[in-house]
Amino acid sequence: MRITGTVGKVGVIGHPIGHSKSPHIWNDAFAKQHIPYIYLPFDVTPTDLGQAVAGLKALGFRGFNVTVPHKVSVMDFLDEVEKEAAEIGAVNTVIIDQGRLIGTNTDGEGYIQSLQSETGIDLRERRIVLLGAGGAARAVGTALAKAGVAHITIANRTLIKAEELASRLRRWTQAEAVLLEHIAVPLKEASLLIQTTSVGMSPHEEACPIDPDYLHQGLTVSDLIYHPRETRLLHEAKLRGAHVHNGLGMLVHQAALAYRRWLGAEPPVQQMVATLERSLA
Ligand code: ATR
Repeated sequence: MRITGTVGKVGVIGHPIGHSKSPHIWNDAFAKQHIPYIYLPFDVTPTDLGQAVAGLKALGFRGFNVTVPHKVSVMDFLDEVEKEAAEIGAVNTVIIDQGRLIGTNTDGEGYIQSLQSETGIDLRERRIVLLGAGGAARAVGTALAKAGVAHITIANRTLIKAEELASRLRRWTQAEAVLLEHIAVPLKEASLLIQTTSVGMSPHEEACPIDPDYLHQGLTVSDLIYHPRETRLLHEAKLRGAHVHNGLGMLVHQAALAYRRWLGAEPPVQQMVATLERSLA
């Protein structure tokens, strides 16, 4: 594609940003669909965040994604924060509409779409164990709590963080907090385990956040990690006859939701999955 003065501009801000797969997914989708847009990654330090946001607006960007460590602090620089993002307490997508900066969050809904389309699971009345209580757990936990699940146990290394998240989720469902080492009992009664920590992520493929012997056949085990595609946790789960789901689909579906907001068009979801798989090969 030739870059001219009329090309549409979107991108992502984070720190660091070098390993982000998003530019591949987006620019490939634009090129294959002959859409005159580009997606640019920007490494923005926390001190420069306000200036960077103002700069993207001044440069005529249609919007931008926000990743670690700016998902919470970016809210200070926006004109509006939509309900989903306010409930999660973080923004991953900004839409710039006639000079107004509108923050939303597509992580939670992207996760649910990926989980349901790949596993067919019916979330209503399920008992769920969520490993971790950070930003990713907050997005996924909020979306699940609103999807009509029966009960969520948040298991974390630091109990206070799990307690904070549990009390947020009690607005929509029953929720409790436990220390990671006390996961055995809640896991026995659960039908879905969701792993949101960085434990098991490349290059630490051998690490498993829990004792694999707690896993059982009645579980669907979902790991938000997509590199490697099969973490040690997912490998152990498979060996015990559980259903497994990885984080690749979430990355694509959260992007697809942003695509609809920025372009008002249908994203090529299958192609985005193929691009991501190629970039990880
Ligand atoms: P993210 O935005 O990816 O969720 P985060 O907000 O920094 O990242 O949260 C990281 C999560 O992974 C937390 O739940 C963290 O546990 P603590 O609250 O105890 O810090 C968890 N985590 C990170 N490294 C871990 C490890 N080695 N063992 C167990 N949990 C870990």
